[in-house]
Amino acid sequence: MSNSIHRRNWLKQSALAALGLSVSLNSLAGEDYLPKDLSQLLPNANPSLINLGSNENPYGLSPQAKKAISDLINNSHRYQYNIPHVQEFRKQLADYLGVTTDHLLLTPGSGEGLNLLARHYSKGNLVTATPTFGILPNTAKKIGVQVREIPLDKQKVHDLPAMLQAIDSNTAQVYLCNPANPTGTVLHPTELRSFCEEASKKTVVTLDEAYLEFLDAPYNESMLPLIKNGNKNIVLLRTFSKIHAMAGLRVGYILADPATINELKENYFGNSNFCMSALSLTAAMASLKDTDHQQKSKKLNAAARQFTQDGLKKAGFDFIPSYTNFIYFNLKNYKGDFAADMLAKNIVLRSSDQPDGKWGRVSIGTLEEMKSFLKTMGSMKFT
Ligand SMILES: Cc1ncc(COP(=O)(O)O)c(C=O)c1O
Repeated sequence: MSNSIHRRNWLKQSALAALGLSVSLNSLAGEDYLPKDLSQLLPNANPSLINLGSNENPYGLSPQAKKAISDLINNSHRYQYNIPHVQEFRKQLADYLGVTTDHLLLTPGSGEGLNLLARHYSKGNLVTATPTFGILPNTAKKIGVQVREIPLDKQKVHDLPAMLQAIDSNTAQVYLCNPANPTGTVLHPTELRSFCEEASKKTVVTLDEAYLEFLDAPYNESMLPLIKNGNKNIVLLRTFSKIHAMAGLRVGYILADPATINELKENYFGNSNFCMSALSLTAAMASLKDTDHQQKSKKLNAAARQFTQDGLKKAGFDFIPSYTNFIYFNLKNYKGDFAADMLAKNIVLRSSDQPDGKWGRVSIGTLEEMKSFLKTMGSMKFT
């Protein structure tokens, strides 16, 4: 490769990194959600870009988390085991969840947890949905695991009977997100619980609860009680990236039976959580206590989501009613690469070709951002 090509590629990667996007994001939702020609992103590396592509929380960190980081910054030369209050985080999180610390493994974002679980349960096939959040299935594919992808039903909800049926004696793991990404749908807790109970008799059930905090009753029930009641085949993932607005700080965790947590710890991290940054942990600790900020994010998200759904409806788009901080909408007969065309108009979102047509996924930003999104949608040609 010539130096100039090297340099051009490096520039492209740097610009993408500056945008918070990278080539690997292509596979995040298991589909080709970004423009094929990534250089199209370059001219848009500008301040008026509205990034609605990654389901981030637009309201930013809790003020208390910000303060916790700035209070600790002068101690960043220390390893985390030398900072007593950071050491307490696992205990505080465990208390908050009502489990003992041996049920808990901290990971640098839940994405790392998903990678780890794909590798850990690789001696057999994986049953999951399509489309779904891509990290776990994509890692499994990469390392040669057979992945059985069960299409969502017509309402874009997990087809639990078909998923149950796809499990056989070679299934090492079932993975599903509730609420689901990219569709924003949710399963009723009673239905999900009975699926977990049934499936976990045969294999490990990995549930990704990244967006759980956006839910209202009766849907806002975690499956954690199954683990508390001793089910050894249930694994949960949670993250501080969404309601806590800490995507860039990388704090997630796995919850499971202590023996499973111990195996994961021993196999991948040794006995420490050296991979976690002390600044991120102190922010997570403060954010957990700042329930006002979480409630505010949830409320503002719900209002902007309602506004966007009303706008899409008024403009005649079919969308899947969302329970999360993103909306999955049908692109009718759009000709061309929708995400690339929106990007040219300064809106970052995802789009994909599915067996039943083209779909887009837009994250819920601020009300102002969603007004711009709807306005831009109005300027697109859907023939
Ligand atoms: C369903 C789901 N799980 C996990 C993640 C990963 O989040 P993080 O690695 O930031 O915790 C995401 C991110 O978008 C997600 O949508």
